[in-house]
Amino acid sequence: MPDYKNLELKELNYNSYLKIPELLSLQHELSSPTHHDELFFIIIHQAAELWFKLMLHETEALCENFREGSVSRALKKLKRLTAIADLEVKQINLLNTLTPVEFAGFRDHLRPASGFQSIQFRLIEFTYGVRESFFLSFFEKEKDKLGKLQKLLTLPSVYDEFVRAVDKAGFAVPAEVLNRDVSQPWKENAGLIQTLKSIYEKPDDNYHWVLLFEAMMDFDEKFSLWRTTHMLMVARTIGMKSGTGGSDGYKFLAARMEYKFFPELWALRTHLGTGYK
Ligand code: HEM
Repeated sequence: MPDYKNLELKELNYNSYLKIPELLSLQHELSSPTHHDELFFIIIHQAAELWFKLMLHETEALCENFREGSVSRALKKLKRLTAIADLEVKQINLLNTLTPVEFAGFRDHLRPASGFQSIQFRLIEFTYGVRESFFLSFFEKEKDKLGKLQKLLTLPSVYDEFVRAVDKAGFAVPAEVLNRDVSQPWKENAGLIQTLKSIYEKPDDNYHWVLLFEAMMDFDEKFSLWRTTHMLMVARTIGMKSGTGGSDGYKFLAARMEYKFFPELWALRTHLGTGYK
């Protein structure tokens, strides 16, 4: 009788569990002769995609926490999400070690590949409610990816789940916010600002909610910082050249700086300490 327990132990190790050989065989430079910096470029993108995968995984759990009304568990998820976003920002900073001339040495080989085709980035945006139909066109030939984005258009965003949780906890969320057509873009709501503002104004009664709001702000701010850092890195690396995805590069990215996942949490700050009703 074979000793199955020991057999398994022999087969399972760091390399087999984590699929390290498979992982290390996934980097293929296209430049010829191979440009020294292309490996760096590929690894930065692959690592970013792995962290996007985890971001989506944690976000699913965050929505579940909102649905079950667990503020402390939602807080925990947001803490990790913010740490991941922070790491993504630092990864973009790593690209400052790639000079414009070094990048130009292999950029033409990767055309027409572009960040526009990152399905996970777009899933993150769509999940958090930033849903521009323009981006669907990049997945026309990949029906499974297109289908996932289209499905998200019909589902509540993370922010919708959040406001429902606020309502269930007994705070006055306006009916038009709760019953809105989730397929439509979010419209800032004065009543929701007022409710969230009143929670901030009575921190002693609601401190766990205040901490949750601030954790949401941490994540939203860090994600915006990714946008800004990526945009500035683009200006530094390719100047005002157009992108490999066909956009006008820096200017296109600059136009997307305003997006926020949790708009009323930002808006209420203008009114705190004033008589705004
Ligand atoms: C030298 C490095 C990089 C350059 C020059 C660059 C340039 C650009 C440009 C010009 C765009 C606009 C779309 C286009 O026309 O292609 C873009 C979009 C994008 N890039 Fe990069 N990028 C770089 C690195 C990265 C990295 C490391 C990531 C990590 C995942 C990334 C993710 C994205 C994403 C997700 C978009 C879509 C952004 C949006 O729609 O707002 N890029 N990039």
